[in-house]
Order: sequence, then structure tokens, then C-alpha cells
Amino acid sequence: MQDKSIVDRIEELKSKIEESVKDLKSSKSLYELKSKFLGRTGEISDLMKCMRDIPKEKRPEAGKIINALRDWAEERFGIIESVIKLSELKEQYKNEAIDVTLPGNTNPTGAYHPNTLIRRELISVFAGMGFTVYEGPEIENDYYNFTALNTPKDHPARDMQDTFYVTNDLLLRTQTSAGQIRVMEKQAPPIKILSPGKVFRSDDDATHSPMFSQMEGLVVDKGITLCDLKGMLDEFAAKIFGSGVKTRLRPSYFPFTEPSVEVDVSCFECGGKGCKLCKGTGWIEVLGAGMVNRHVLEGCGVDPDVYSGFAFGMGIERIAMLKYGINNMKLLFEGDVKFLRQFKMA
Ligand code: PHE
Repeated sequence: MQDKSIVDRIEELKSKIEESVKDLKSSKSLYELKSKFLGRTGEISDLMKCMRDIPKEKRPEAGKIINALRDWAEERFGIIESVIKLSELKEQYKNEAIDVTLPGNTNPTGAYHPNTLIRRELISVFAGMGFTVYEGPEIENDYYNFTALNTPKDHPARDMQDTFYVTNDLLLRTQTSAGQIRVMEKQAPPIKILSPGKVFRSDDDATHSPMFSQMEGLVVDKGITLCDLKGMLDEFAAKIFGSGVKTRLRPSYFPFTEPSVEVDVSCFECGGKGCKLCKGTGWIEVLGAGMVNRHVLEGCGVDPDVYSGFAFGMGIERIAMLKYGINNMKLLFEGDVKFLRQFKMA
């Protein structure tokens, strides 16, 4: 220190600063450099400390030029900082740039199966009329699936349904009607239940599948008549197929209902004039129903002289096919996402 004048030292520092800022690349190294020179223990502060060694009368002058050096250095670093910052920002923008023409990362969402949609819709329509849901077992014994439904072993109506047997007595239920018995055994009237579920029959073509779904309904109370069934069916038809859709009952046969009916709805496609969907008849068959046979009520401990009831059963796939214009039942079981995606709700 002694052998060098303050001025020399300042010049030295200046060129040292110029030299080191030359190939500054990042603001991080700039800050390091800044504190090396301008920090509290930096080289310019060190220079200030040397003032002690300077004769008193020269100190104000020396202070002035050291301060000028500090100002100069601050300005120099300031300029460099703004240049570096700008180029860093440019680099950042370049890295963050998005090619909006690239396909995005989509999160494919699933769609509800048409069966699920129809099942939920049916439950909501009937829940609105006071029905509650009961789900029975898929493996049943002969009694619930047949005998208690007025279809004993030798009954010809057994041939209406080809049954998968598990053992002599256990079988895959062929109809959700089995649930009617389970409910009536457990619950005293009034009864108003809806029973959706899978059923199984040894049957396989474009309109039949060995496994399909049904929706059963059962109402038992004092004074229930076929008119109650008709009224409820009208409400169901209007809600599911559209207002203005009417129902008609045709005589039919089921061992567990008497009288039994086949229920048609007026064609919602052509309004009843006749078209391809209704095969020119103006009507579409949608379900089976009837007044619960008194033998069935008796077998469940319900007095048929006090109570009466109606039951109905429909194929959920059939309703789905009609409503969505699906012409092959297999589509409902293949699980092809291209088919299923079409049922995505908005
Ligand atoms: N279980 C009948 C079937 O599978 C449908 C049905 C249910 C008919 C209830 C009358 C009453 O065909």
C-alpha cells in the first residue's frame, strides 16, 4: 500500500473490474463479483480502510476519489446487470416457449355404459313414484327362481327360460322376479320395490345374450288394481321415451301373474304411424307385467283376500337398444370404447 499511490490502486482496481466483467455470463456470477468488489469486505471497502495510512490532509481528496470509484463501479455493474438480465429473460422465454400446434396432453375420461345410463334413469323415474331399490342374489335356488313363482318342477313354463344350473338346486337366476319372493317373505305390505340386476339364460343371438339385465318392479298393498299398473306404466313411458308416448296392454302368460300382460309403448320414432323401428305396427313391446298371482302371495304369507299387487319386469338392454337406436345387442357386451364413447354425457 505504502509504495503505491491511491490513484494507482484505483486504476488497478478499475482495470481488474473491467477484466473480470468481460466474460460474465450469468447474474449469479455478476452478484458474486459485485460483492467481491463492492461488498462490505470487498476490495473497494478495503481501499477505504487504507485511509488510515494516508496523511490527514490528503484524506478528503482520497475519500473523494474512492467514492468516485465506488460510483463508477456501481454504475458499471448496473449496466452489465441489465444486459445480463435481458439475455437471461430471452433464454427463459425460449425455453418456456410452447408450440401451440402440438397436440395437447389430454386426460381421456370414461363414459357410462348405456346399461348404466338406462338403469339409473329407470331408478330415478321409479324413485320419483316412491319405489325403493332391492338387489337380490345372482345365484338363486330353484325355489325362489321358479317354485315360489308358481312354476313347480313339472311346469311347462319352465321351458320358457333355458336355465344354467350350478347344482341340482342352485342356478343362475333367469329373472329378477326371484327377488319378489325374497322381499315379500321379509316385508309386510305395503311394498313398492324396484329390483335391478343381472340374469342368465342359455340363449345367444343378435337380440339375446346369455347374461343380460332386468329391472323388476313389485307393488303390493290393499286395493291395487291393473289400473294402477297402467297409470304407472304411462308415467314410465312418458319419462323414458318422451311425453305423448302411450302404453297398451296385451294379454299374455306368466305363471306368477294373473292376469298377465305384455306392455307395448306407442312408437316414439314415428308417433304411431308405422316405421322401421315398430315394424309398421306403431307399437313396440317393452316389458312383461301382471297382477301378482294369488298363489304367489299366499306362498309368501300375504293374504290374497286382503292384499293385491302388480309386478313388471323389463330387459334393460332392450330399453337401451330402443332408446339409443342400437341394432345389435353384442355391442353392449363387447366393451369397444369407440362404441361406448358415444354415450358420454355433456
Ligand atoms: N320375469 C318375466 C320375464 O323374465 C317378466 C315379468 C316380471 C313378467 C314381472 C311379469 C311380472 O320374462
